[in-house]
Amino acid sequence: MVGSHGKKPIWWTRLKLNSDIDQRSLKNHIVDMKNLENIRGSRVYGRRQGKPLRKASQDRLDKYFPKLNIFVKPTEMIDPFVLFDEKPDDIWLEIGFGKGEHLVAQAIAHPNVGFIGCEPFLNGVSGLIDHIDREKIENVRFFMDDARLLMDALPDRSLSRAFILFPDPWRKKRHYKRRVVSPGNVAVLSRLLKDDAELRIATDHHDYCRWILARLLENNDFDWKNDHPDDWHKRPADWPETRYEIKALKAGRKSAYMTFVRKRRP
Ligand SMILES: C[S@@+](CC[C@H](N)C(=O)[O-])C[C@H]1O[C@@H](n2cnc3c(N)ncnc32)[C@H](O)[C@@H]1O
Repeated sequence: MVGSHGKKPIWWTRLKLNSDIDQRSLKNHIVDMKNLENIRGSRVYGRRQGKPLRKASQDRLDKYFPKLNIFVKPTEMIDPFVLFDEKPDDIWLEIGFGKGEHLVAQAIAHPNVGFIGCEPFLNGVSGLIDHIDREKIENVRFFMDDARLLMDALPDRSLSRAFILFPDPWRKKRHYKRRVVSPGNVAVLSRLLKDDAELRIATDHHDYCRWILARLLENNDFDWKNDHPDDWHKRPADWPETRYEIKALKAGRKSAYMTFVRKRRP
């Protein structure tokens, strides 16, 4: 837990205040996140909140957040298997799940897998919770912050699959350091993924596609599974589409679906 305030922890108070669309409380929450940033040298670029939530969504957020959100204490490790009511066979991670369409579809298709989604955007987390409530999903937990903070708290070889789908491309050169697919994050994913585990990445941005390939191949711990463009321009059948991907298609942009495999350790 981030901290406590009387009987109830601080995050709980803040969520409650936020039910009244209290922008000040949200700012406090962000200040807490900033403190985490300072401690761990992490940073989220992009929006934390969009339109105010509808009352029903806010009520669902208040109801589910305490149970489903993962709290990361600086310097403490997390055993991802104990986050779920029933111990899953494997853990899969999605970084930047948007409103959770892909995460939820995968969770339904793989009930024995425990899913962890990371998304700092409040409206995205609220979208995920709406799906979880509607579809009665039990095998999803989330972290509402920079995925890196959570990844740093996970043990080696704890993940059997990871997804980064349509990460923000940060087009300007001076913003490249904001890209989620960075040498540091690739190294962390290499540490976390088991031998032969898949890392799936999609983008509709030509330059970012080349960047992603370069970052993964220079790391040396990954094999690129797709060997022909026909192969990586077609979304595999077990890869549900995402909200962002639909937007890209409507705008006439083709996407690349890249699958990397963590090489076996010696
Ligand atoms: C372009 S959107 C794509 C969302 C979704 N994957 C889709 O395809 O519809 C990129 C998402 O990544 C999230 N994001 C950005 N930086 C992140 C970080 N450091 N950790 C986790 N998520 C992040 C953003 O909040 C945003 O929702």
